[in-house]
Amino acid sequence: MSNIIESRRPLAAITGASDGLGKEFAKQLAADGYDLLLVARRGNLLEKIKLEYESQFGINVETLVCDLSRPDDVKALELRLANEEFLEFMINNAGFGREGMFPEVDPDLEEEMIRVHIISLMRLSRAALVPMCKRRRGFLINLSSVAAFLFGTNCAEYMATKAYVYSFSRSIQCDVSEYNVRVQALCPGLTHTGFHSAETMKGFQKDKTPGFLWLNADYVVRTSLNAIRKTKRVVCIPSFRYKLILALLSNPIGSKICEWAYRKRAKNKT
Ligand SMILES: NC(=O)c1ccc[n+]([C@@H]2O[C@H](COP(=O)([O-])OP(=O)(O)OC[C@H]3O[C@@H](n4cnc5c(N)ncnc54)[C@H](OP(=O)(O)O)[C@@H]3O)[C@@H](O)[C@H]2O)c1
Repeated sequence: MSNIIESRRPLAAITGASDGLGKEFAKQLAADGYDLLLVARRGNLLEKIKLEYESQFGINVETLVCDLSRPDDVKALELRLANEEFLEFMINNAGFGREGMFPEVDPDLEEEMIRVHIISLMRLSRAALVPMCKRRRGFLINLSSVAAFLFGTNCAEYMATKAYVYSFSRSIQCDVSEYNVRVQALCPGLTHTGFHSAETMKGFQKDKTPGFLWLNADYVVRTSLNAIRKTKRVVCIPSFRYKLILALLSNPIGSKICEWAYRKRAKNKT
């Protein structure tokens, strides 16, 4: 079998590809004929995906075990991307949530979140944009969230880091527009993935969240890929219901309602 170096197919690099939205991006891009560079910590899951997608889609998959909270791992990935002639998609998707009231939270976990959501995302965006701008072609998708537009209890760092991703992505699009490179801040609402069952999300009550708020990973990824290929919009908020919710909440009256609801939730927890 040929490998990625010999293949002349375009390449999609995806962080956090072992599960959830990252795995779904890998599937949809493999179906479109992309070779894949898949990155995450759980190498066993990446190897399973490699076997499955190579045989199902006839493409080549390279896996890289990386902990993106570690500077050396991020630098290794930056080097891998630096001279990647065929890099067409870079998807900075790796991330995690955590439940906990500030200041009772573990500051090391807060720092880890900043490293994964902000520092690695900034460095990998840059590493990917250099070859993309040189070729005057490429797509960069950064995972933000509807949380970027809101505030609330129990997840201060998460909301703040996703606001960074939103703002950073909008600004770098201005810098790279002249190179025919497109950037997207993908802002999904609640989506069925492994996100809410992670150890750090203990305490999140999925069954108490209204069913209509939940999206499927397949739909979120399809919407994101369609938007970046066919429109010039930088911000992608999948589903009309979330656009409506944000329109209702991101104004002074909506903010007051949010504040009241969050205070009530915090009181019920104590
Ligand atoms: N699900 C939602 O409701 C939702 C809503 C809005 C935004 N998002 C965002 O979407 C992105 C994907 O989340 P998901 O919902 O697909 O969750 P998920 O199923 O838990 O997947 C998260 C992925 O991130 C990887 N990851 C986490 N920490 C990492 C680290 N230190 N180094 C390398 N990889 C790491 C995980 O792989 P390993 O554990 O194998 O390393 C996993 O592949 C995240 O950025 C999240 O904030 C999710």
